[in-house]
Amino acid sequence: MELEVPAPYAADADAQPDTCSLDNYLQLPDNSMDERIAAARKKLGASTIILGHHYQRDEVIRFADYTGDSYKLSKIASETSADYLVFCGVHFMAESADVLGRDDAEGRPGQQVILPDLNAGCSMADMAEISQVEDCWDTLARAGLTEGTILPLTYMNSTAAIKAFCGERGGLVCTSSNARGAFEWAFARAEKILFLPDQHLGRNTAFAMGIPMDQMVVYDPYQINGGITPERLKAAKVILWKGHCSVHQRFLPQHVDQVRAKYPGIQVIVHPECRWEVCQKADELGSTERLIKLVTDAPEGSMFAIGTEIHLVNRLAKEFAPKGKKIITLDDTGCLCTTMYRISPQHLAWTLENLIEGRVVNHIKVRDEVKHWARVALARMLEVKA
Ligand code: 13P
Ligand code: SF4
Repeated sequence: MELEVPAPYAADADAQPDTCSLDNYLQLPDNSMDERIAAARKKLGASTIILGHHYQRDEVIRFADYTGDSYKLSKIASETSADYLVFCGVHFMAESADVLGRDDAEGRPGQQVILPDLNAGCSMADMAEISQVEDCWDTLARAGLTEGTILPLTYMNSTAAIKAFCGERGGLVCTSSNARGAFEWAFARAEKILFLPDQHLGRNTAFAMGIPMDQMVVYDPYQINGGITPERLKAAKVILWKGHCSVHQRFLPQHVDQVRAKYPGIQVIVHPECRWEVCQKADELGSTERLIKLVTDAPEGSMFAIGTEIHLVNRLAKEFAPKGKKIITLDDTGCLCTTMYRISPQHLAWTLENLIEGRVVNHIKVRDEVKHWARVALARMLEVKA
């Protein structure tokens, strides 16, 4: 996908002649990209920011102007005055940045968000399609759960269309860092919540608020009426969508037992996308930003087994080893987010060098009719503190 825009920067004599074809970059080794990325970054100056999610690989995240979890990066996207946001993360994050960014106004073009590889999606976000969510809402209405009794709440890891669906029906978006606050926000306005699309984050959050398991049901979009009787729907307080993260769902309760047996005194800290059984055994839960803080604030000599994506765990292990902190992954068969990994130094160099030549490649643009309500839902999210 390529969009022609007026060149914001004069192409100079040193400009790479081959920026149009991504293939020209993909043939080159990672380390040959470093100088090119650094030079392009410098040339683009304040007009461009690079946002990096914590799961990005080291060769990419080292060039990020800002790193963070989904919440922090959205907040930055909503506040920056940069014209171009190069989002080293996954598709739903780039979409959210586009929704929260500045639109065309008073002759000034709006912000443009770039996802260096369009294949960087999220398997969890793919587990809920807007048509399925609309069918679900109809099923709930037939069971007597009409607007006013129930609010839809979606995890950030969902399409902009689903965010808009929630916004239009009085609901909101949350991330793993403010899910509890978002649940409280929704329960202050309705008796019940439909939580999309991560059943684990929804279950972990609701359980921590004291909602018993028998008041939660799982709606399966591939079964008639979600596979739940109207009576059970009526009795439930939280309706969880049957979605999950394939990276975090790999962690099992026995991994917690094994690391504790092998390393007495170790603290187990996990992302709330992990299964309830794992979260129950863990010492602490947290978004990626919080997991980092827990490690950073711990005294020398601390040991952590972390249940989250492997690039973040390895980075923390390397960074904190000289400070006397031991960090291991909760499951050493490795948990890689293959879609986050799609963003390579070659993709980053390609997007930046094209930008220098006035071409916005891989522009992520949410349709105007979706944008309005998605923005409402995301704005409500930003009101709920992380
Ligand atoms: P965070 O918001 O904690 O960074 O999580 C995003 C994510 O996709 C985790 O799998
Ligand atoms: Fe999606 Fe899981 Fe990857 Fe996060 S770790 S981006 S939820 S697939």
